[in-house]
Amino acid sequence: MKGVILAGGLGTRLHPLTRITNKHLLPVYDRPMIFYPIQTLMNAGITDIMVVTGGNNAGDFLRLLGNGEDFGLKHINYTYQEGEGGIADALRLAEYFAEGQKVCVVLGDNIIENNILAACTKFEKQQHGAHLLLKEVPDPERFGVPVMNGRRIVRIEEKPPEPKSRFAVIGIYMYDSTVFERIRQLKPSGRGELEITDLNNQYIEEGNLTYSILDGWWTDAGTFDSLRRATNLVVETGANKMPSPGTPKR
Ligand code: G1P
Repeated sequence: MKGVILAGGLGTRLHPLTRITNKHLLPVYDRPMIFYPIQTLMNAGITDIMVVTGGNNAGDFLRLLGNGEDFGLKHINYTYQEGEGGIADALRLAEYFAEGQKVCVVLGDNIIENNILAACTKFEKQQHGAHLLLKEVPDPERFGVPVMNGRRIVRIEEKPPEPKSRFAVIGIYMYDSTVFERIRQLKPSGRGELEITDLNNQYIEEGNLTYSILDGWWTDAGTFDSLRRATNLVVETGANKMPSPGTPKR
């Protein structure tokens, strides 16, 4: 499975910080935000990685990450998203890189305490479809929220004012190779973007979507409050803890 990190956008919720740099280059404690999703993928054994950036300061990613050697990567790939087309539009740019393989997509501002190895291993065994990660949160209205029927997800609602469950769909998604064809069929939402939630709902309608509940804390870092929370969590407990001894590592 290949890894795709989405690190574009204008980060307007973090103005004025993001007037002068890309959100994913801002510090979360002692390192730039983008280091965390890279580590998330690497801890799951995914080392073939593409960074999709966009907006201003895209060149700074090259200066920071270079060819990926500092992370122990053999190579790192980059592409550039023009405009503000949304998360699914950014993922579209990874089609050539994916070469027909499954992809694990991580939003560049999502930080986790532990690792996603178990979910990745589960999805590797799934013949086709998609796999999501859920986390119970105090403020689901800020996120994509699954509507559940027992243990089954019936649909996902994007930032619903009245959430129908206490879970958030976190920004780590696994897809089979049909994802790019599906993105081509998406229509822009009310805010003019191709929404990842519409893509996930397609898989649900076809009965092809599975999920895991993430273990350990998770946070996004795209607002002042969540950026501060991310920093505190990293300082207090550390992020991207490696699998415990004995956990099989691919
Ligand atoms: C995006 C997705 C949302 C998801 C969230 C996770 O929201 O649209 O479904 O729950 O990422 O971080 P955004 O942060 O772009 O508003």
